[in-house]
Formats: sequence, structure tokens, C-alpha cells
Amino acid sequence: MHLPDLNEARKRTSKENKYINLKEDIKKVFHDKKYYLKTYGCQMNVHDSEAIRSYLEALGLKEALNIEEANVIVLNTCAIRENAKDKVVGFLGKCKYLKKNRDDVKIVLAGCMSEQPDVIKEIRENHPYIDIIIGTHNLYDLPKLLTEKFSEQVIEVYSSSDEVIEGMNFVRDSKYTAWVNIMYGCDKFCTYCIVPYTRGRERSRKLEDIIKEVNELKEQGYQEVTLLGQNVNAYGKDIGTTFSYLLECVAKTQIARVRFVTSHPWNFTNEMIDVIAKYDNIMPYIHLPLQSGSNRILKKMNRRYTKEEYINLFNLMKEKIPNVAITTDIIVGFPSESEADFEETLDVVKTCEFDGAYTFIYSKREGTPAASMPDDTAYSVKEERLQRLNELVNYYSNKNNQKLLNQEVEVLVLGVSEKDQNKVYGYTDTMKLVNINGPQEIIGKIVKVKITSAKSFSLDGDYIA
Ligand code: 5AD
Ligand code: SF4
Repeated sequence: MHLPDLNEARKRTSKENKYINLKEDIKKVFHDKKYYLKTYGCQMNVHDSEAIRSYLEALGLKEALNIEEANVIVLNTCAIRENAKDKVVGFLGKCKYLKKNRDDVKIVLAGCMSEQPDVIKEIRENHPYIDIIIGTHNLYDLPKLLTEKFSEQVIEVYSSSDEVIEGMNFVRDSKYTAWVNIMYGCDKFCTYCIVPYTRGRERSRKLEDIIKEVNELKEQGYQEVTLLGQNVNAYGKDIGTTFSYLLECVAKTQIARVRFVTSHPWNFTNEMIDVIAKYDNIMPYIHLPLQSGSNRILKKMNRRYTKEEYINLFNLMKEKIPNVAITTDIIVGFPSESEADFEETLDVVKTCEFDGAYTFIYSKREGTPAASMPDDTAYSVKEERLQRLNELVNYYSNKNNQKLLNQEVEVLVLGVSEKDQNKVYGYTDTMKLVNINGPQEIIGKIVKVKITSAKSFSLDGDYIA
């Protein structure tokens, strides 16, 4: 495993380097300590956790097998819906109990919940035993704050508010697939969404830095990179370049597979579609959130496209990119959504026949414009809509998966199947999960598999030697 050097990361970001020679002292403080890291939410958080892990291990902490033996418990939280917050609060109960019996345990609340002033206030009042609250913008402060909690030592760290930080180190979860941030934040301000408030304005990383990272990953043996941003299509606007140019440059590194999440239909240009179609190593997989099929609701959501524009874009992708799989996100029960509005959403699902969809009941986020919109639909009606939507979505995922029956597909094999230790699992280039009859030696490789059965959420297949 590549162990990051805390000092090295600083050197590349801070003009003034104050960290030389501190490393060994810090390690003396932490060498017998263990950490437990729990991650909630989206891929952005999963990747931030890879950075958090890197900081903790650079300080000298080791991973705990369970929460009871940990000295540092980090919760990397999500704020997108109320139930994400509920899960964190539930887990905090456990942390409180641990703190009661031991004073060598420190609790860290990180991530998107920590970027909401009203939530921080509530947490400070109701959960005073939390030692450190750290947001998405100042992850860099974690080593400093932890060191101060555990010792008399004071270290200074570079901290940024709305800039792009380079020189981040990651202890990555996988040896074969890697997340690569291309931009941070979001400027779209969809009226239901908390992200522009918790993640800040759109900031693009420099193209050279991204390409350097992809080349390094390729050299380390990574097969797949996922370019990450809240709205990747807006990449480059702030630094005078474009997402299609970046995508082309990443494809030219000849890493085996490239994909990207998440796209916004409003920013998706014809040029991007042409680049995806042109390069074999850009995966024919696009996640294109619809949110609603009703033009009235789309307008209230500030989504900047109509149902017709969405369908036109969808059709263009299907026409130009061979075998493309398109998945989506849909919210039901947005304030004032009527049965007729909801049926418009069902209508788009029937027209597009998505490969998959993440579906959600609208969750009110304080501070967003939608939070003050009148909402008179009963929650039970929203639940019933979600169920009807899910039935339709699953019908089409299944229908699309059945098309692969008896076909030969390429799969990047990632590990041993959780359900059946005699099988391995992986993903097609259209991001379909396949459980494979095949030897463990194929883990980490892209192999040919013949599909033998297809369900809504996964496929089964035989490895073709
Ligand atoms: N309520 C319900 N779903 C939401 N999403 C974002 N904000 C909310 C909210 N307030 C969904 C959107 C987005 C996905 C990541 O989460 O569908 O695309
Ligand atoms: Fe939220 Fe809209 Fe930005 Fe996506 S595009 S992160 S839904 S504000």
C-alpha cells in the first residue's frame, strides 16, 4: 500500500512549508492509536474518505477492526436528504456510549453535515461530546486538530476555503478502479438541493494535474478511472477549457476504462457525445439525472431543461453512442407535484426505458428555495408514487438486462462475490454488475464473460477462458 507523506502533500500546496521534521514527533503520539471511519453518501464522500484515511495513516494511526477498539472515530456525513442525517444521529448514540466509558476516544464529525451552520448548532447542543467538527472545505485541518486533541503539540496546516487543493494523497479502496476529482462544488442551485451550500461554487482542477494523476494511476496498474464532479459537464468553464477536451485527453492516456459522474443535461454538448463515441476506452455509460418529467416541476426545480429537451438529448446519445446504457435520478413528491405531474415522469420513464434509476422521495432541506414552497401532498401519496415508479423502473432495468442473455460481454473483475465465495464479481463497461463462475486469478483483469441469466439488478455469467 502506498503510504502518503504528510509533509510532501503540504510542500506541493503551501508556499511556506512549516511541517518538516514534525512527522516523527507526531507518529510518537499516534503509533498505538487506532481509527474507525464510517462513510455516508455519494461517491464524492467515498473519495473524501480515501483522503481522510490517508491523513490518519500518515499520522501513524492504524485501522481498527471494530468501533470498540478505536481511539478516533470519524463519521464522514451526508446532508442530501433527511434520512442521511438520521442515520448519522443514530450512530452518534453508539459513540456517546463509548465516550462515557473511555476518555481516550475522540469523535470527529466530517463531511456535508458539518457545512450546515444550523446543523452544527444543533449538533453542538445535542451532542456536546463530539470533539472535532470539520467540513468538506478544510479536510486539511484534520491532522492539526487531531494532534491538538491528543497532545500539547501544535502544528499549522494549510487550509483553503474555496480553492482547489492539489497534492492530496489517498489510501484508495480499490487497486483496480480509482476516483479522480476533476472539479469541486456546484453552481446550478436546483431549488431542492443542499450541495451548492455544502460543497461551494464550481472549481475545476487544472487539466495537467488531472492527466498527471490518471497517468500515475495507470502506471500503478489501475484499469478504470471515474472522473468525479457534482456536474462534470461544467468542467473547465472557470479555467478556459472544456469537459470534452479533458475527456479526450484522459482517453488518450490509454487507461483501459474511463467513465464520469454526474452529468447535468443542461451542460451536455454534442461535442461531448462525439468524444464518447470516438474512443473505445470511454465507457458507454452515462448517468443523466432527469429529476422530474413534468415541465412545470422542472421549472420549479430550476433544472433549466424541458421534458422534450431531455428526451431529445437522450435519443441523440442512443443514436450516436453504440450500446450506451443510460441511468437516471428521479425525485417524487417535490412541493406541489400533482398526480398529472407524476404521470409525466412515468411517461418519460416509458419513453426512455432507462437501464436503471435511483429514485427518491423529496426531502426538505432548510435553507434551499424549495423548503419554503407550499407542499400539500400527503407523505403516504408520495410513498405510493415512489412504489409505482420503482415498479416501472425495475421493469425496464430487467428488460434491458435480458437483452444481454447469451451475449459475450467484457467485465472488469473486482473481487470475490459477497453472496457466493466460489464466484467473482465485476462490472461491464455499461456498469452492470455480473456474478461470474470463474477463478480468482481473473480479479483485476478485464475478461470475456458469457451471460447466463439476467435480473433487474445483476447478471450471472461464465468466464470464457
Ligand atoms: N430530496 C430528495 N432527493 C434529492 N436529491 C438531491 N436533493 C434531494 C432532496 N432534497 C437527489 C437528486 C440528485 C441525487 C444525488 O439526490 O435526484 O440527483
Ligand atoms: Fe444539486 Fe442540481 Fe448541483 Fe446536482 S446539479 S448537485 S442536483 S444543485
